[in-house]
Amino acid sequence: MTTSIEPLISETEIRARVVALAAEIAPRLQPGTVIVALLKGAFVFAADLLRELARHDLDINLDFMVLSSYGNDTRSSGRVLINLDCQKLVENRDVLLLDDILDSGNTLTFAVKHMRFKGAGHILTCVLLDKPSRRQTDLQADFVGFTIPDLFVVGYGIDYAERFRELPFIGHLKE
Ligand code: IMP
Ligand code: MG
Repeated sequence: MTTSIEPLISETEIRARVVALAAEIAPRLQPGTVIVALLKGAFVFAADLLRELARHDLDINLDFMVLSSYGNDTRSSGRVLINLDCQKLVENRDVLLLDDILDSGNTLTFAVKHMRFKGAGHILTCVLLDKPSRRQTDLQADFVGFTIPDLFVVGYGIDYAERFRELPFIGHLKE
């Protein structure tokens, strides 16, 4: 079995979209908003988006949460586990959740509920990639980088069984 990666979204396209996303998001962030990036997949996206948000003169707090649902499969198991909870107090504070991909919706729906459970104020969601055709929940992200078809993608922080996160572009993994 051979594996190949077909480029889908280039570094340049990602860069331009992240700049535009930051401009969309910035006016919607209240002072003191905690940005919670879901690891590991959103780590590259979060790093780039935060540095763009910095140009908009905002007071930003960053935290991380490690959730997992996939194991080493290309399909979601549907069960979401908290491997590491965020450390910042989100009680009565607005939260912007960042994830790499909105697919079935199970992960982000879980994260939103978890933030509500922790007493967060207004919760906004932002995903780099949206695959609406696979949704199993009625969640829609407030901010979406790119809407893509039902393809398994890797790169720019996104993995297949922990591989390919280091690629600077997003590609379609073909087997
Ligand atoms: P959901 O819970 O099905 O919405 O899936 C969200 C999570 O599944 C994302 O945060 C990704 O980590 C992972 N995921 C979904 N689609 C892909 C893909 O095409 N490649 C790699 N990971 C994916
Ligand atoms: Mg993920």
